[in-house]
Amino acid sequence: APAPGKHAERFAGQLVLVTGAGSGIGRATAFAFAEAGAKVIAVDRDAEGAARTAELSRLVGAPAAWAETVDVSDEQAMEKLAEKVATEYGVVDVLVNNAGIGLSGSFLDTSSEDWKKVLDVNLWGVIHGCRLFGRQMAERGQGGHIVNTASAAAYQPSRALPAYSTSKAAVLMLSECLRAELAGQGIGVSAICPGFVNTNITSTARFAGVSADEEKRRQKKSARLYGLRNYPPEKVADAVLRAVARNQAVVPVTPEARGAHLMS
Ligand code: NAI
Repeated sequence: APAPGKHAERFAGQLVLVTGAGSGIGRATAFAFAEAGAKVIAVDRDAEGAARTAELSRLVGAPAAWAETVDVSDEQAMEKLAEKVATEYGVVDVLVNNAGIGLSGSFLDTSSEDWKKVLDVNLWGVIHGCRLFGRQMAERGQGGHIVNTASAAAYQPSRALPAYSTSKAAVLMLSECLRAELAGQGIGVSAICPGFVNTNITSTARFAGVSADEEKRRQKKSARLYGLRNYPPEKVADAVLRAVARNQAVVPVTPEARGAHLMS
C-alpha cells in the first residue's frame, strides 16, 4: 500500500467525484483523495457501497463526503446528478469515471444483449460523465482533470474478454480525443490501464459456459503466470492521483500492463 501521507494536502479542498466508488479500485481511489484532503462524492449504483465509501472517506480525512446512487449508463440520471452536484457541491475539480463491469466469453458466443450491457456501462457511462462534467469544468474556466479507468485489455487482445476489451479500447481513444480537445483550457484527461487487480470484478467476471471452479482455476493460472496475485487496488488509486498531479495521458499500472503497453 502507498505510504500514508504520500499525497498529503495535495488535493486539499478540491472536489473529487468518483464513479463506481462503492467497491474495489473506485473505493480505494476515493480514500486516496480523501487522505489528500479532497472533498469526495462517491457515486455508485450500489447505494450501500457508496454510503460506506463516503462515511469512511470522512474518517480518513475528507473535509466532506457525500454518496450518490446513480447508474452511470442512465443518461437522464447522470444529467440529474450533474445538476445536483453543480448546485449543491460545486464544479468538480477531478472526475474519475471508474464504474465498469466485466464480461467474459468468446466473441461468437456473446449475445447482442451482453455486448450492449457492457458498452452501456463501460463506454456510455464514461461518455456521459466526460460530457456533463467536462462542460461544467470548461464553463467555469478554472481547469480540472478527468481520469477514465480503461484497462490493459484496451491494447491487449484477449480471447476471453472481447466485449470488455472493445469497450476499454474505446475508453482509451475517447480519453485521448478529449485530452486534445481540452488541453487549451487547462483541463487534463488521463486513461488509467490496470492489468489484473484483486477486486470483485475479477472474482465475479462471468465466463460463458464455464463453471465457478473452472473460473477459479483460470484466474489462479493467470495470477501464477503474471505473478499478480496480490496487486492491490490501493496501488491503482495511487497511480490515479499521480496521473492527475503530473497530467499523464495514458498510465499502464500493473507490471504486465506496462509490459503489454511497451510492446504494442
Ligand atoms: P468492482 O466490481 O470491485 O467495482 C466496480 C464498481 O462499479 C462496483 O461498486 C459497482 O457497483 C459499480 N458499478 C458497476 N456498474 C455501474 C453502473 N452502471 N453505475 C454505477 N456504478 C456501477 O471492480 P473494480 O475492479 O474495482 O473495477 C473498477 C474499474 O476498473 C472498472 O472500470 C474495471 O473495468 C476497471 N479495471 C479493473 C481491473 C481489475 O483487474 N480489477 C483491471 C483493469 C481495469
